[in-house]
Amino acid sequence: TSGGLVDRQGRVATDLRVSLTDRCNLRCTYCMPAEGQDWLPDSHVLTDDEMIRLITIAVERLGVREVRFTGGEPLLRRGLETLIAATTSLRTVDGLAPETSITTNGLGLAHRAEGLVAAGLTRANVSLDTLDRARYAAITRRDRLPAVLAGLEAADRAGLRPLKVNTVLMRGVNDDEAVPLLRWALEHGYRLRFIEQMPLGPRESWDRSEMVTAAEILASLRGAFDLVEQPGLVRGAAPAQTWTVDGGGPDGSWDVGVVASVTNPFCGNCDRVRLTSDGRLRNCLFALRETNLLDLVRSGMDDASLADVWRSAMWGKTAQHGIETDGFVQPRRPMSAIGG
Ligand code: GTP
Ligand code: 5AD
Ligand code: SF4
Repeated sequence: TSGGLVDRQGRVATDLRVSLTDRCNLRCTYCMPAEGQDWLPDSHVLTDDEMIRLITIAVERLGVREVRFTGGEPLLRRGLETLIAATTSLRTVDGLAPETSITTNGLGLAHRAEGLVAAGLTRANVSLDTLDRARYAAITRRDRLPAVLAGLEAADRAGLRPLKVNTVLMRGVNDDEAVPLLRWALEHGYRLRFIEQMPLGPRESWDRSEMVTAAEILASLRGAFDLVEQPGLVRGAAPAQTWTVDGGGPDGSWDVGVVASVTNPFCGNCDRVRLTSDGRLRNCLFALRETNLLDLVRSGMDDASLADVWRSAMWGKTAQHGIETDGFVQPRRPMSAIGG
């Protein structure tokens, strides 16, 4: 009943991903139905104080070193800056300030990037699937591309580096944009990562044959760029595999990443644990069972006992998501409520 978040495979979770809200101001086709979904009522959502308490337990007692805020859309959470500042003021078991980051659709970043940095935010990943305004409107069901581009520029100016861009390629939708997107990202100094689409969206919306695979993405990129395997680089727990773009960038710094969650899962090295906005602990993105910390917090459980519950919830983490196996079952909760 002490120590970190270890599971029976020997993996240790040090990266906490906190979903701050299930709401979003976009309606990406692969994530949400057009009409939105049944949002969590406010009373079922952890308050800022409750969230800070759980994050504190994770950092001070359970060995968490990095806290990533996700959503839905994390910028929609009013207390975001407060949560970042409170997290930054904590000290990990090694005596360091935890790293804080957000995964965002970029809407609103233009106005908030500086304040987020002032609160202590160190990194941001921005989702962007196309550079074509009409396509952006079709994929997200909202005509907001210019606002995202402005958000990226503001984040860069505010010093959120490396600034990563996440792109989900979809067959017949934006799979012809791998090369232009990479060219654009390199020009702006953004780190682009292509993501294989996972079965986490609206029911029945995922089709294995519609997924653009890492191998296909690399083949299109290799038609235009010289990609070099990064020598000696150990992928470790990072979801993205990265390649250097030969001859590119100041000090050869250009690179591109591919998150091959389906065709080359990184489950064996996973160091993640998730907390949803309604206070459920998920030991895996694809977990079918959750642990209800919200009720325990509200029933007055003390920190040491909450830490014990958390540890035992991690022990049973599944070895692999098994997307490519026959018995795979998609979690009931959509991506927007888990936080990616
Ligand atoms: P960095 O630490 O900045 O590299 O971020 P990240 O790649 O961990 O996180 P981000 O939120 O930008 O997510 C990028 C993609 O990786 C998204 O499609 C996520 O759904 C996916 N992803 C994040 N965590 C996991 C995970 O634990 N398992 C799987 N299969 N995919 C994940
Ligand atoms: N598979 C893979 N990535 C997804 N994202 C959203 N839905 C999926 C999915 N089904 C991405 C978003 C965002 C990140 C949090 O996850 O585009 O970049
Ligand atoms: Fe919002 Fe992200 Fe889902 Fe798009 S993928 S609807 S930006 S939560």
